[in-house]
Amino acid sequence: MNHLLDIESITTDQIDKILIKAKQIKDELSRGNYSKKPLDGKVVFSMFLENSTRTRTSFDMAVYRLGGSVIHWDNNANSLKKGETLTDTIRCVSSYKPDGLIVRSSEFKAPYTFKTLMDCPIINAGDSYRAHPSQALLDTFTIEEQKGSINGLTIAICGDIAHSRVAACNIQLLHQKGAKLRLISPPTLTINRLPFEDIKTFTDMNEGVKDCDVIMMLRNQKERMEASAIPDDDWYFRNYGLTQQRLKLAKENVMVMHPAPMNRGVEIADDVADDPYKSFIFKQMENGLPIRMAILESLVS
Ligand code: NCD
Repeated sequence: MNHLLDIESITTDQIDKILIKAKQIKDELSRGNYSKKPLDGKVVFSMFLENSTRTRTSFDMAVYRLGGSVIHWDNNANSLKKGETLTDTIRCVSSYKPDGLIVRSSEFKAPYTFKTLMDCPIINAGDSYRAHPSQALLDTFTIEEQKGSINGLTIAICGDIAHSRVAACNIQLLHQKGAKLRLISPPTLTINRLPFEDIKTFTDMNEGVKDCDVIMMLRNQKERMEASAIPDDDWYFRNYGLTQQRLKLAKENVMVMHPAPMNRGVEIADDVADDPYKSFIFKQMENGLPIRMAILESLVS
């Protein structure tokens, strides 16, 4: 594996190796005896052209925990603001020979473009509505940690399917892992062409969550959607918000997930987000670290 660009471009064997390595790292971190430095002497360039808390922070932590160093792109003080093209900027960064590039961008397939301009492993930390592979890997890791296997589980992905790179990547990976997938969304936020024929689609939230093993909620990607796609946040919560009442329709041991940031009271009720038994949202965040350490160790060390 040379790059992490999306789920489609890595093999099932590479996916399994990352998941196994992440488990070992997580165990060692929790016992407090993780002491390896596979990125010793390596310098990684972190370029977040879009906002991020979890992905950026956990990648930073991962590089440092592995013994490497990070240089950050400064979104406020850079030469794009002086009219330089992104291509010229990337060629400049490339000339300093970083050992890896972590990139988030709103441009469709930006990491693929960067790959042609740089000589180091490229890690996609989210591009446009298309792909966010490290998120899908940590989501799979979190489900497998709880349920053992994904094969045969009924998993609903709910909300702004049309603009969510988290949904796009999870559809690929969870389908590959044998999940029975359901997509629940208002008609204005659905995808027209389903990537797999056996995916079931719902516009009624109550029908969609019935008997699910996992419910994965999504944030409305207002930065990418037309303003008219939903009437307003109250309408959205009434029709698509995950409430305790709706949660009762799913299986008793259902897992509630959300990549975060959450908009509480829009796509998810407070008492669902904070449900001590059913919500795995903060567990997902925690698992971001071992997954990203495993990715960096595989690619950069
Ligand atoms: C997601 C993203 O950026 O795509 N956030 C994340 O990485 N955890 C989800 C979102 O912003 O809605």
